[in-house]
Amino acid sequence: MYKALIRPLLFLLSPESAHHFVFSCLKFFFRLPGIAAICRACYTVNDKRLERKLFGLNFPNPVGLAAGFDKDARLFEELGCFGFGFIEVGTVTPKPQPGNDKPRMFRLPQDQALINRMGFNNEGVEAMVKRLRGRKDFRVIIGGNIGKNKATPNEKAMDDYEHCFEKLSGLVDYFVVNVSSPNTPNLRELQDREPLTRLLSRLKTLNAQKERPKPILLKIAPDLGDSQLDDIIAIVRETGIDGVVATNTTIARAGLRTPEAEVQQKGSGGLSGKPLAQRSTEVIRYLSEKSGNSFPIIASGGIHTAEDAIEKLKAGASLVQVYTGFIYEGPGIAKEICKGLLKYEM
Ligand code: FNR
Repeated sequence: MYKALIRPLLFLLSPESAHHFVFSCLKFFFRLPGIAAICRACYTVNDKRLERKLFGLNFPNPVGLAAGFDKDARLFEELGCFGFGFIEVGTVTPKPQPGNDKPRMFRLPQDQALINRMGFNNEGVEAMVKRLRGRKDFRVIIGGNIGKNKATPNEKAMDDYEHCFEKLSGLVDYFVVNVSSPNTPNLRELQDREPLTRLLSRLKTLNAQKERPKPILLKIAPDLGDSQLDDIIAIVRETGIDGVVATNTTIARAGLRTPEAEVQQKGSGGLSGKPLAQRSTEVIRYLSEKSGNSFPIIASGGIHTAEDAIEKLKAGASLVQVYTGFIYEGPGIAKEICKGLLKYEM
């Protein structure tokens, strides 16, 4: 139904218009009594074997929705009815910001991929705080993905992350520090050893002072080389953060089926979806093997099917997240992956 009817109609709209249209439809339909329960019954696989206990949290299943889909925590309750075990909201920044000029999101259907240069468009952390305070359903785990404003220079980036962390610390179940988006100028320089160690140590210190400290994870780019990945392993050990989300979108464009001229025409941005799968798996395998599996990894990058998810788990991931797969496969993606995992008994 989704692939035969809904997706072709949605793909007539620009990607960003389709995104807003879907948000409005879901908001509308979920006001009708009983829809949330019906949706949950249709899309959720309840099975003890899918449950995961990780960094002190009980995940109902290992399939999550990646950051960037619900940037402002406007729809996390509704999205939670589509069978996800966890939903990561954000990336949120201290102040609202419009992001880059439109168009800034593109489909590459031949590759089952997207290119985006959204640039952390979001309504700011205060707006997110208000929405998360209204959270009613605590079954689905909520992660808060935090970033810095475009106008904040890297020397002051720590203040931005600290601000978002403080504001959200009573409201989300875990944090992801995003220093890996290719769409905020110079942001990825924060992945360098010295600034990253300082940033994560500071957040860990603040976290330790809380009555209920929250797991803190780091989201990394797939474009890091081996020596940079070695640094990441060392930083995780040194700072004692709880894990890594691997990976964000890539700036690489190799091996695409979409004609090169068409790809170039889309311009800069992060590539996600199927073409990212292999590199993302390589990064996960490298981190897992080199660290002796010493910290949990959340896989993100080109997961569209149960087979894709199993590949990531076999490479060393503990949980998986989807974004582009949700666009191409539709609302049943979490259910299909969960069913597939049960079949393989992963
Ligand atoms: C993203 N992604 C992302 N990641 C993040 O940490 N913060 C963000 O704000 C966003 N925003 C965003 C917007 C759009 C349009 C896309 C397609 C992606 C990255 C996303 O969470 C995920 O890590 C990558 O897209 C790789 O996974 P998929 O899409 O291949 O499943």
